[in-house]
Amino acid sequence: MMKRVLSGIQPSGRLHIGNYLGAIRQHIASQDDPHVDRFFFLANYHSLTTINDADTLRELTLDVARTYLALGLDPKRSLLFLQSDVPEVCELTWILSTLTPMGLLQRCVSYKDKVARGIQSNHGLFAYPVLQAADILIYDSHYVPVGADQKQHLEVCRDVAIKFNLTYGDTLVVPDAVIRDEVAVIPGIDGQKMSKSYNNTIDMFGSDKELKAQVMSIVTDSKGLDEPKDPDTCNVFALYKFFATADEQAEMAERYRAGGYGYGHAKLELLAKLKAYFGPFREKYLQLASHPDDVIDVLKTCGLKARTTASETMARVRSAVGIF
Ligand code: ADP
Ligand code: TRP
Repeated sequence: MMKRVLSGIQPSGRLHIGNYLGAIRQHIASQDDPHVDRFFFLANYHSLTTINDADTLRELTLDVARTYLALGLDPKRSLLFLQSDVPEVCELTWILSTLTPMGLLQRCVSYKDKVARGIQSNHGLFAYPVLQAADILIYDSHYVPVGADQKQHLEVCRDVAIKFNLTYGDTLVVPDAVIRDEVAVIPGIDGQKMSKSYNNTIDMFGSDKELKAQVMSIVTDSKGLDEPKDPDTCNVFALYKFFATADEQAEMAERYRAGGYGYGHAKLELLAKLKAYFGPFREKYLQLASHPDDVIDVLKTCGLKARTTASETMARVRSAVGIF
């Protein structure tokens, strides 16, 4: 049987180059693997834990979908769909909830972090990992590629699946997390992890002016133009490395060390790289932005296919637990 890769991303903000390098790029590259099929979905039910404005959620959902499509997600080789187009996931969430120990959820650091950051505590935020477990289990997923921050949620999912199988007999596929520990944390313009929550992102598809403003505001030390500089502690160089060849990196590092080369120069080189890299994707993105119906069509068509798989799992689950 073909193995299934599944991952979800919350449409809770515009995607940035940290998301691209840390997640989307790998999702898209996996399309070349003939041994797996791929389900990618936009976790819009999850986003309701932090977004309470309908227009904002709709706009961000479309934006994330068109970003994936523009960057190369090919609906012929991968499904791209909305979590909410498979409402059975909520039914499975409830059934799994009845097997999820409170202590397991109370230990989840992501809930505690979010509350500490001032996000309103509510049952949805607390039960978030159970919905995530349902997302994974309803499609019989084998591999779930996620960032290191999601490791604990994957453990909850595995624990709950194992408990279900022990309680009701073998019904659910117990998935493996594929944790991208090896993926570097991409720094934002202030040097912290790039994150929409920190307002330090470089966007993929902003206008030239916006992109330039973001790149020019990357924080550096205050060394003057003539002074030699250390590329290995510089945020501009750290970002440049992701988009430059080995030779180009060596050349820039050399110029840093020699002196007579300012951070402004390095920023302009980074800007040129970003424009060259994302330029062609941006055209596709803008084209999709003016054809929202095409994007919705892809989501709905893929959603129907995903729902067929989910219905099969739910039939097994209902029968296992004794629901007619
Ligand atoms: P954000 O931090 O902007 O809210 P999310 O937590 O929604 O981003 O992350 C979505 C995906 O992008 C996750 O798989 C996460 O691991 C990845 N990601 C986000 N920011 C970075 C970063 N700075 N470096 C590497 N990967 C990242
Ligand atoms: N919680 C994940 C995140 O914030 C998004 C997500 C929801 C997810 N459901 C999932 C990821 C299922 C993988 C599998 O990044």
